Amino acid sequence: MPDNSIKNTILAPMEGVIDAPMRARLTKLGGYSRCVTEFVRVTNVLLPERVFHRLCPELLTGGRTCAGTPVYVQLLGSDPATLARNAIRASELGALGVDLNFGCPAKTVNNSMGGSVLLRYPDLVGEIVKTVRDAVPAEIPVTAKIRLGYDNADALEQIVAGISDAGASELAVHARTKFDGYKPPAYWDRVKSALPASMKERSVINGEIWTVQDALAAVQRSSCPHIMLGRGALSAPDLAYRIRQGDKDAQPAPWETLVEEVLDQFLTSDCSSHRHIGNRTKQWLAYLKRTYPEASLLFKRLRTLHSVNEISSAFDDHRRYDLTSIQETIEAS
Ligand SMILES: Cc1cc2nc3c(=O)[nH]c(=O)nc-3n(C[C@H](O)[C@H](O)[C@H](O)COP(=O)(O)O)c2cc1C
Repeated sequence: MPDNSIKNTILAPMEGVIDAPMRARLTKLGGYSRCVTEFVRVTNVLLPERVFHRLCPELLTGGRTCAGTPVYVQLLGSDPATLARNAIRASELGALGVDLNFGCPAKTVNNSMGGSVLLRYPDLVGEIVKTVRDAVPAEIPVTAKIRLGYDNADALEQIVAGISDAGASELAVHARTKFDGYKPPAYWDRVKSALPASMKERSVINGEIWTVQDALAAVQRSSCPHIMLGRGALSAPDLAYRIRQGDKDAQPAPWETLVEEVLDQFLTSDCSSHRHIGNRTKQWLAYLKRTYPEASLLFKRLRTLHSVNEISSAFDDHRRYDLTSIQETIEAS
């Protein structure tokens, strides 16, 4: 029996991992209502247009991926006025929405008053959201992404209320503190009590959603109607599609199909920079290993390779030897 209690699935921002080619690939597989870019770091200047175009090339195609999925531009900074000026620039360049990052745990970012460290200052978070909201045209959504808190979740209610009062269109909560890092579990239940009625319909739960079952549990336990997928989207690229279908028992796409997707990704977007050939492919395989044991075999084959020819041959060998021997084992058992 399909369960469609999940309204929208959003593809999470992941700096250095989910770039425009990956957004195009994942949204093409279906199930996503929206994406968010990697963060644009805002200090005390109005950034040149090229910075926005580099992190969000979709601005040149109506702010959407080739599958037609809207992409919001994420800003990370702490000065309300400068964030507002950059948000105006993003909207003038065609961004379909602006997202504000209050979750980044990186030391370098936090040391310069960016990302999750702002959760220590709930009033400043509210002021940032309000200043940006007031600055950009009303039809452009302004969204926020937070963690439960910095050291602990004691100020969560205050942070959420401030963001709600500031008029945020939507709030995504990565259900862990900065102190928790990325260590499981994610505390989906903790979000439920912190959401005022006014925010419930506009809330997105994020963190540790790897399967359709996880997605359903996260929504039920947090009472957020929307979900955001980060590492789960990379580990099972058709996860959002299966969530949209609402079928708990549907199996991930077979590896034989997916490996063609990985090869295409390598050939179309991971060969151009001489010094980095294959890096993004190895990174993706590291995430895929969680769902597909076969990804480990391919990873082993190309781990030390750096040329297009060698890596292409490794894909051939993987198909010819690894997949054939797995098939033979299955048939013999
Ligand atoms: C490598 C990496 C890069 C990330 N970059 C960003 C970012 O640029 N902006 C942001 O708001 N969150 C960023 N995040 C956090 C994710 O968006 C997400 O909140 C987190 O991974 C938890 O969700 P998941 O369990 O579905 O991965 C990043 C996470 C990882 C692992």
